[in-house]
Amino acid sequence: MKHFLDLSLISKTDLQNILSEAKRRKSLQSNSGKVIISDKSSAKDKLLLMLFEKPSTRTRLSFDIAMRQLGGQTIVMNSSDMHLGKGEESVEDTAKVISSFSDIVMFRTFKHQTLIDLSKLLTVPLINGLTNSSHPCQLLSDVMTYEEKKGSIKNANIAWVGDGNNVANSAIEAAVQFDFNLNVCVPKKYLPSKKILDWAEKNNGKIKIFHDPKKGVKDVDCIMSDKWVSMGDKGDSKKKKNNLKTFQVNDKLMSLANSNAIYLHVLPAARGEEVTSSVIDGKQSLVWVQAENRLHGQKAIIDWCLSN
Ligand code: CP
Ligand code: NVA
Repeated sequence: MKHFLDLSLISKTDLQNILSEAKRRKSLQSNSGKVIISDKSSAKDKLLLMLFEKPSTRTRLSFDIAMRQLGGQTIVMNSSDMHLGKGEESVEDTAKVISSFSDIVMFRTFKHQTLIDLSKLLTVPLINGLTNSSHPCQLLSDVMTYEEKKGSIKNANIAWVGDGNNVANSAIEAAVQFDFNLNVCVPKKYLPSKKILDWAEKNNGKIKIFHDPKKGVKDVDCIMSDKWVSMGDKGDSKKKKNNLKTFQVNDKLMSLANSNAIYLHVLPAARGEEVTSSVIDGKQSLVWVQAENRLHGQKAIIDWCLSN
């Protein structure tokens, strides 16, 4: 059984295959409707159950549409609809029921450990739809978007600017697995996970930490960013935003990157905070393509999980 829990847990070969499959499926896409079954897939007639403990627009829509386009079906449940998490039913009992009713599960939750626990109890594949620690599906679409515009990401110079959050952690794992150089530009207070940084170092990751974004974005081919305050972030968000002020991606910062550098954002965005409108709505921004590529990425991930 194949779970899609983190990029670090999947072989480089499998990740390359998933990426190629996402691109291939995009090339087959028909514009005549949103529910056209695209090519044969191991998801045909299968049921994807999506469990959300946090809000979502892109992840929910892209997985739902992906499954329909693959010829399968979906059920979405929010945590408020379930007994789980309210002291009414155990994870063990919930996992048994979920396993019997679905062929594959996607889970968006708070603690990463909850995802790991569930993965050990399920008898069907589990996909990480975002935890406080990582967001691997997002990085697949980011790598795809980069490659569509600029060619192979291998040895590319990329900067992450802002909070050392869940997506930054997955960007570090992506840098190792897809072999690109990543400048992580974050304040000292908001470093990415030490465990993931240590894993990257052990695996010859080309990761550099910068506390001055102006230095970190110099000559890069791509700048990536995300909201300064993530869902479920505890603490004083006003203070955090204040501490991150100098990490805003604005025209001045963009001008320090290569002149043809692209800008990516996980979305949703807070214009005027982590990025200015001039950048996110500007010529170098590929955020809408990046969001659309979630759909193609999800199809390849689902297919990988369900194939032998
Ligand atoms: N980027 C992303 O995962 O967006 P949603 O929170 O809308 O799913
Ligand atoms: N870092 C953000 C990503 C949202 C898709 C969060 O976790 O809220």
